[in-house]
Amino acid sequence: MGDPRLFQVAQPVQHFDAPELHSLVTDMEDTMRALDGAGLAAPQIGVGLQVVIFGVGHNARYPDAEEVPYTVLINPVLAPVGNEIEEGWEGCLSVPGMRGLVPRHRTIRYQGLDQYGEAIDRTVSDFHARVVQHECDHLSGILYPMRIRDLRNFGFSAELFPGQDLQDE
Ligand code: NI
Repeated sequence: MGDPRLFQVAQPVQHFDAPELHSLVTDMEDTMRALDGAGLAAPQIGVGLQVVIFGVGHNARYPDAEEVPYTVLINPVLAPVGNEIEEGWEGCLSVPGMRGLVPRHRTIRYQGLDQYGEAIDRTVSDFHARVVQHECDHLSGILYPMRIRDLRNFGFSAELFPGQDLQDE
């Protein structure tokens, strides 16, 4: 946080199934896995393109946590479904060591393409919807602290959730 590239609007990808795009996705996967993140957007590694990846597998430490299928989502378009807003805790690989309570649409439809140009069209709720909204915000130059309604609900993970090893997005 503080790098001006995080506050720029990302550009749409023009060429699919291209070597440059595949190598960007590989870089993003390596970065997300190395940092044990739940998601990553291209601007977080300094690339101003509309590419996000996300996915949360089964975690023995959090058996009740929702799984989110691993997804590469490019040129996404999001639309809320219904009016329900839910607050939930988020972290971000660009804001390390912190957590904040962020309002998000409970249910969204998201559309876009994968790196091969195959269409993606899903309607999802809860944690899956939260992760997608968080990642796609990065493409508009928005970091989650900018959406916190009450900054008393923003703090260090170690203070807010002592002893928990939480994933960032
Ligand atoms: Ni993030």
